[in-house]
Amino acid sequence: MVKAAITGLSHYLPDYILTNDEIATMVETNDEWITTRTGIKERHILKGEGKGSSALAIPAVRDVLEKTGTAPEEVECLICATSSPDYAAWPSTACVIADALNIRGAMCYDILSACTGFLYCLQQAQAFIKSGIYKKIIICSAEKCSSFMNPKDRTTLPLFGDGGAAALIEPSEEYGVEITKIHADGAGNDHLIHVCGGSFCPPSHEAIDKDLHYIFQDGKYVFKNAVTFMTSAVSEVMEEGHLTLDDIDWICTHQANKRIIESVREHCNAPEEKVICNIDHVGNTSSASIPIALHEAAQQGKLKKGDRILLAAFGSGFTWGSIYLTWADCKI
Ligand code: UT7
Repeated sequence: MVKAAITGLSHYLPDYILTNDEIATMVETNDEWITTRTGIKERHILKGEGKGSSALAIPAVRDVLEKTGTAPEEVECLICATSSPDYAAWPSTACVIADALNIRGAMCYDILSACTGFLYCLQQAQAFIKSGIYKKIIICSAEKCSSFMNPKDRTTLPLFGDGGAAALIEPSEEYGVEITKIHADGAGNDHLIHVCGGSFCPPSHEAIDKDLHYIFQDGKYVFKNAVTFMTSAVSEVMEEGHLTLDDIDWICTHQANKRIIESVREHCNAPEEKVICNIDHVGNTSSASIPIALHEAAQQGKLKKGDRILLAAFGSGFTWGSIYLTWADCKI
C-alpha cells in the first residue's frame, strides 16, 4: 500500500542566539527559573528589517530541493505550516516561498494549525499521495514567533524561538506515514490567542495600547491540556496499530516544555534514550519544532532507514495529534 515518505529533510535556525541571561535583562526572571520550569537555555531569533517567516523556510526548502536533486518545476504542491505568516492575510507564505525558489504553477497554501501544523501538513500530504493526485510535495514550517512576543511579558518571552524546516514527501511502498490521528477543539481558543492583526481585531492604536498584537497564553491551563491531549492521541495511535513500546524506536513530540515532553515519555513507559529532545537550544518554534528536532536527530546519525517513530503535537485552538511513521531513505 502506498505511503507518504519523508525523502528529504532540512531545517534552518537564524544566527542570533537569545540566552536566558539576556532575557533576564529584559524581564524579571533568571536562568534557573527558565531552565527548571521549561528546559530551555537559549533560542534563535531572526533579526533585521523586512524579513518574515518565509526567510526561515526558504533556506530549508532550497536545501531539500538540492539534496534530493529535485528541480523547482517538479514540485506539484507546497504546503506551509505557519502561525506567523509574512502577511496577515494575502498572499500566503507558501506563495512567497514558492516565488523565492522559482516554484511556478504548483498548488501552494498555508496551514494555520499552530504548533500541530507539521502534523496537519503530513496528514494532508499523505492524503494527496494515497489518492495519487501528487507525487512530489514540499511541506514546510516557517515560524518567526519573536514577531508577536511581548518583550515585557515574562510568562511568554522565554518560551518561543524562531525557526524553519522543510521536507520532501514522495510515495513509497515500503516506508512512510502509517497511522495518523489529528484533532481540534475550538473550546480552547481563548487560552492561547493572538487577538490583533486579523479581521476580528484589525490593527488600531487602541488594540496596540492594550498589547493585543502580542500572544496571550494561560500557561498552566495550556500545559495541562497539552499533556492530556498529546497522551490521548498517542494512545489512539498505539491502540489502532496494536503497538507496544517495542514497536517504537523514537518518540518526537512538539518542543513546548521539557516537563510536557517528559509526561508523554512516562505515558509511553519509554526510556529517555528513545526521546528526541532539542528544546534546550531551540525553544518552542511552534509548527517547526518537530521537523527541526527530527532533522537534528538525523544529522546526529540517530535515525536509520526503517526506524519506527511516534510523533505528537499540541497547540492553539486547541489542535493536537499523533502520527506513527517509518523512516524512509531520507536525504539530509
Ligand atoms: O506550544 C503551544 C503549547 N504551549 C505550551 O504547551 C506551554 C504550556 N505552559 C507552560 O509551559 C508553563 O505553564 C509555563 C512555562 C508557561 C509556566 O510554568 P508554570 O510552572 O505553569 O508556572 P506558573 O505559570 O504557574 O507560574 C509560577 C510562578 C508564578 O508566580 P507566583 O504566582 O507563584 O508568585 C509566576 O508569576 O512563576 C512566576 N513566573 C516566573 N518567574 C520567573 C512566571 N514566569 C516566570 C518567569 N520567571 N519567566
